[in-house]
Amino acid sequence: MEPRTSFPPPLLTALAQAQHVAVLTGAGISAESGIPTFRDAQTGLWARYDPQELATPWALRQNPGLVWSWYEWRRSLVRQAKPNPGHRALVELESLVPRFTLITQNVDGLHQAAGSHNVIELHGNIMRTRCADCGRPVTSWDPPPEGQAPACPHCRGVLRPDVVFFGEPLPTDALERALEAATQCEVMLVVGTSAVVEPAASLPRYALQAGATVVEVNPQETPLSPLVHYRLAEPAGRVLPALVRALKEHLAQLRGGR
Ligand code: APR
Repeated sequence: MEPRTSFPPPLLTALAQAQHVAVLTGAGISAESGIPTFRDAQTGLWARYDPQELATPWALRQNPGLVWSWYEWRRSLVRQAKPNPGHRALVELESLVPRFTLITQNVDGLHQAAGSHNVIELHGNIMRTRCADCGRPVTSWDPPPEGQAPACPHCRGVLRPDVVFFGEPLPTDALERALEAATQCEVMLVVGTSAVVEPAASLPRYALQAGATVVEVNPQETPLSPLVHYRLAEPAGRVLPALVRALKEHLAQLRGGR
């Protein structure tokens, strides 16, 4: 399929006039970098496990070694992954608008690797580790015996990735900043998220209530689709670079007085 070259003019105008653009991203934007979403079938050794049963405080208590090795596997995928044109288009978008907030549910750090500055990580970061017991961040530890999770060097508790498991609350500061951006932005792009996991799923709804123009970028329909102003039903890595190009042309025309 040829990349899209035209967008509704009112969408470009809304972006060009916005003082604050917010973007909410989910696993879909990193899919094109080779990081499987939780809802994709898992592959190889992990095919028989349901991620929604591994990424829980309960699983960590029952079987810390299993949870640790699953995250080791996911970290190995993240280490190999590189930002894709979708991530890079958002870096460029940040440079084009007066205020920009990127709220991500992803834990892979690819937005920062691409060069985005104002990033709010709602679900933590898989490359950081902390102790499940004393809570302290930890950067080095002794290798654990086969099949076990490493022990905290401070309290001998269990180490875990610094991510939000299913059933855990989000970091308060990140959530507050995300809510502020959602209710203050004039345009929100919602990219590559199934818009079902709360509280992130509610952010576009708050933006709509506050009067923002909301744009969904997702090849598949989601529960949010019927509510948004514009739907760009294409992969993020293709449509976001095209959108940013079109915005730059639109801004150049405005500056040229046409
Ligand atoms: N471009 C845009 N969207 C895409 C692409 C793509 N190339 N590929 C897939 N998608 C869309 C899918 O259609 C789907 O709607 O990305 C969405 C991914 O959905 P999820 O896997 O549910 O990811 P996400 O919404 O980020 O999940 C939220 O739940 O999995 C847990 O904690 C994890 O942060 C995650 C949260």
